[in-house]
Amino acid sequence: MRSAQWFARDDLAGFLHRSSIAATGINRHTLDGRPVIGICNSWSDLVSCNFHLRGLADAVKRGVAQAGGIAVEFPTMSLGESLMKPTAMLYRNLVAMEVEESIRAYPIDAVVLLGGCDKTVPAQLMGAAGADVPAIALTGGPANPAIFRGRELGVGTDLWGYVNELRAGRMSQSDFDELEAASMPSVGHCPELGTASTMAALTEALGMALPGSATIPATNSRRYAFGEATGERAVALARSGPRPSQILTAAAFDNAITTLMALGGSTNAVVHLLAIARRIGVPLSLDRFDEISARTPLIANLRPSGEELFARLNAVGGIPAVLDRLAPLLDTTALTVTGQPLLAGTRPSPVDDVVLSSLDTPFAPTGGIAVLRGNLAPDGALIKTSAATPALLRHRGPALVFDDHHELSHRIDDPDLDVTPDTVLVLRNAGPIGGPGMPEWGALPLPEKLLRRGVTDMVRISDGRMSGTAFGTVAVHVAPEAAAGGPLSKLRTGDPVVLDVDQRLLAVDVPDDEFHGRTPSTMPDSPSRGYLRLVNDHIMQADQGCDFDFMPADGAAQDLAPRSIPAGWHGGW
Ligand code: FES
Repeated sequence: MRSAQWFARDDLAGFLHRSSIAATGINRHTLDGRPVIGICNSWSDLVSCNFHLRGLADAVKRGVAQAGGIAVEFPTMSLGESLMKPTAMLYRNLVAMEVEESIRAYPIDAVVLLGGCDKTVPAQLMGAAGADVPAIALTGGPANPAIFRGRELGVGTDLWGYVNELRAGRMSQSDFDELEAASMPSVGHCPELGTASTMAALTEALGMALPGSATIPATNSRRYAFGEATGERAVALARSGPRPSQILTAAAFDNAITTLMALGGSTNAVVHLLAIARRIGVPLSLDRFDEISARTPLIANLRPSGEELFARLNAVGGIPAVLDRLAPLLDTTALTVTGQPLLAGTRPSPVDDVVLSSLDTPFAPTGGIAVLRGNLAPDGALIKTSAATPALLRHRGPALVFDDHHELSHRIDDPDLDVTPDTVLVLRNAGPIGGPGMPEWGALPLPEKLLRRGVTDMVRISDGRMSGTAFGTVAVHVAPEAAAGGPLSKLRTGDPVVLDVDQRLLAVDVPDDEFHGRTPSTMPDSPSRGYLRLVNDHIMQADQGCDFDFMPADGAAQDLAPRSIPAGWHGGW
């Protein structure tokens, strides 16, 4: 095992390593040949979704000890959607690098990844893929739902609806204050099928988490039982694998994409899966998402595409039940962290067609996300069809272009804004470079004066992302983005814009010569220093997963296990 290269050596380096860890209470006899299991913890006081992960780490430690391993917990930066500005996505790659290097630099034989909020889970999977040391994920679980006027709420989906009610004058400020008081009753991630729930589900579908773990609520004692089981399994992984590169294969990504489309999950999962695949060296493109979406029925009734909350899946068997129903569309030979194929040991789920249908009687005949192309998005864009207004999926209307988020906030509620329900609202400079970090600004707010007239949806287009909890006819992830010179930079207010989801088309109806001859809009200033400079210079576009261009898998993971240290040399401490 890797840890033996640190601890089982008869030289000065071995002396230094053993004495260093002995200071934490782990003596030489305890170390003797046992696997060292890292617990990569994204716990933080600043992230309510991950606030309980310290307690969960204790459960993992019990499991590791029961199986004969040594557990060592280490922190990483925690990415919280609500408090980090401009967006937690700006830091996903930073954490992915931190996780990869933490695993590689330390004497770790296998690692347990504890994450919950949207970006922590993909960041950890990207890091584990890069390090390729045996790894197993345990997500934090959905929060208990708020109850407001007798209805269980999703944190985002229902909030966006109530915000519209407030802005339209149909909800009072005191009622809105009552909503705020009720809105976050527990730790855990957003309880609807937002990005966090989607990524928890896909982590299981990829084979990187124990079957059944994703849907258990954050406060349910069974999550802690899964913590112990995950710790035990990590010890077995340390002894005999498999490694991430044996699990995260092309078949595993196809299985995850099928699950994404069948659930009606978040568009954000597309950039994350692209990035994870790139880190492990699996070729994956947007076209594969569209192919799989076209052959996959929507079989889940989960908010924001449907009605139910994520934990409702628990009652019907969780993600194993989803995978069981999808079995004809999956590669069930794909290996998982259990050491077994994907559906090994899965039992038939109870019938509950309210939340989960069969393949024969789906909620929609095709999957929840479509990939658009055209002269406005030559490298692709996404639309979450399952959460859109069917009547708007084929639409032509004049563009109303906002140069950035600040202009949008200042103008959208201007009573004199020249806008009708047919207008296509466009936000540019919200992409990976322009945001920076591709914030979730893509579901542009509807103009207040239209909300007051009862308008509930409009076509919106952006090079940013949208929250997995959001809904509406929203084309996001337009690539290349405006700040990289993409076509949105040449779009003008009044240009006729065409959205045709059946044709997978997102276009501007302006003659090519005229359109290409236009001067692009003003680009945002480039940052001069620090992490933002790194992002500006090396971030890839949405269709490439927004990873850094210097982090492909073909950089061959370099093992940094220690070499011998000459006696008398102190530089290796
Ligand atoms: Fe953390 Fe939604 S804010 S999961």
